[in-house]
Amino acid sequence: MTPQIFVLDAGGQYCHLIARRVRELGVHAEIRRSDVPAHEIRGARGVIISGGPASVYDPGSPTIDPEILDGSVPVLGVCYGLQLMTQLLGGDVRPGQKGEYGLATLSLEDGWAASRLLAGFSDRKQIWMSHKDVVAGLPAGFSRIGSTETCAMAVIENPSRHLYGVQFHPEVVHTAQGRELLANFVFDICGCVKDWDPAHQLEEIETQIRKTAAGRKVFFFVSGGVDSTVAFQLCVRALGADRVRGIYVDTGLMRAGETEGVAAMFAKLGDDVRVEHAAGEFLGALAGARDPELKRAIIGEAFVAVQERIIEEQHLLNARWVLGQGTIYPDTIESGGTAQAAVIKTHHNRVAGIQKLIESGGIVEPLQSFYKDEVRAIGVQLGLPPEYLERHPFPGPGLAIRCLCSEVDAEPIARGDEWLVPVRSVGVQGDFRTYAPVLATEEYPSKAVDARAAATELVNQTAEINRVIALVSAIAPVGSMRVWASSIVPARIERLREADRIVREMSRASGFDREIWQFPVVLIPFGTAERRDSVVLRPVDSVDGMTAEAVLMDDNLLGAMAERLREIDGVAGVFYDLTHKPPGTIEWE
Ligand code: XMP
Repeated sequence: MTPQIFVLDAGGQYCHLIARRVRELGVHAEIRRSDVPAHEIRGARGVIISGGPASVYDPGSPTIDPEILDGSVPVLGVCYGLQLMTQLLGGDVRPGQKGEYGLATLSLEDGWAASRLLAGFSDRKQIWMSHKDVVAGLPAGFSRIGSTETCAMAVIENPSRHLYGVQFHPEVVHTAQGRELLANFVFDICGCVKDWDPAHQLEEIETQIRKTAAGRKVFFFVSGGVDSTVAFQLCVRALGADRVRGIYVDTGLMRAGETEGVAAMFAKLGDDVRVEHAAGEFLGALAGARDPELKRAIIGEAFVAVQERIIEEQHLLNARWVLGQGTIYPDTIESGGTAQAAVIKTHHNRVAGIQKLIESGGIVEPLQSFYKDEVRAIGVQLGLPPEYLERHPFPGPGLAIRCLCSEVDAEPIARGDEWLVPVRSVGVQGDFRTYAPVLATEEYPSKAVDARAAATELVNQTAEINRVIALVSAIAPVGSMRVWASSIVPARIERLREADRIVREMSRASGFDREIWQFPVVLIPFGTAERRDSVVLRPVDSVDGMTAEAVLMDDNLLGAMAERLREIDGVAGVFYDLTHKPPGTIEWE
């Protein structure tokens, strides 16, 4: 099926969001590299150029084939896309007086009422901006129809050539009339028709599966997560249960009850899913590991070894089998996912046998055109119960990347009323991920102040830290505890597993788990001589994991949770992570 809208990826994290929003309007949209030749997207009814972190005047910054702007197909430039369009058509882009990040108010300018892009708009509505550069001079034939206090050219258009540009982000929820603007562009200006509804594409997906499988059987390495479960179920529907087999690898780094839960889920669905118990292999390989990237590498290697063994033992590498994978759309596009997810995925896909299968066409990926929420919609259509579809994401390397380690013993350092705790946690500022110490405050904030905004501001201003945590309760003052030299050992994984179990049980019982997107529980080697670890709570809200907000919880729930966590052997204290992403990441490693 040819997409009606192509979104050209100028390197922005919002590129996927634009494509998703267009699909939510019921229109098939796909992403292409920004420099795709114009003739390759000729069949489209419209093109959207995404935002991106570069400046158009930087050497090597993303650009597009100028022929796309020849007026034959409508084009909407968003943020960087607007600036690129301006520059290519002879206008002027320069650094603004100061950057504009966050909420702003859109003022409609003369002539807006005649604009098809802004049909149905009203003046002084909220928009969301994230830019430093601005358009200072319009290309010939353009007029401006919207502005903000710091950005004169917030909406521009040249309707006779079907070219439109917005400096703000219509795809984010914080832009009040963003959906209307995209709908105006897609339906009225481009003339698109509704042609996209994943839930009604089951038959087409199944036909495709049968075609690729071509009489062969399919085997999956399943995780119990939404993607591989739905992909598996689609194959069962398309081919019959006796032609689909799943293998679940228990790495010993799973949450409490996870292996049993996943096995029970597939048994209930009537599927052939076997459990491979490999905890000894993983924990053995990890013994003594401390460095975060080394831990990931060890786990990746262990996965490769286990997968190769299974493929060998079960004779899966022959003409009768193909591999099924739950790969979804963002995984197939370069800019999607996180740096770390990419690392672990290359490990998974590097299995020599799997590589061979991919090259010979022996792979079935029924979800490769869909986003997560679309996968859920397909799952609903398949009749899968909500508890299988609404599970919080959980990282492939499991508890290992939530069990922090330290090379050395170290004392916290006083910083005014706060403490610099030398455990290394990851953060993301700009396009870079860095490891840095944590700032701990002794005081858990009252609801009256927005401690999360303050924490995020503090991290942005302090180069030496990546996140701010607040003490909920501990057996000793923060200043008297210390960081202990520590590595991955079964006892610490067990401690973390117990903490995670308690947190999950209490958040489910209280309904808190429905308010959040993910809730990592992290063990840090910070405590007293007798109790050498502390637990950090990291509940976040997010849309797709690319950005996230720290979420506070009810004081009574938090108090009760901390009390139970402190009963765990070896746990000295409980902290709460107050940092948004950016600048902190969701996971600590
Ligand atoms: P960060 O920590 O980058 O996480 O804010 C964003 C999302 O990605 C997940 N994540 C991973 N998933 N392997 C995975 O399979 C990994 O190595 C990994 N690291 C982070 C994280 O749980 C969150 O949902």
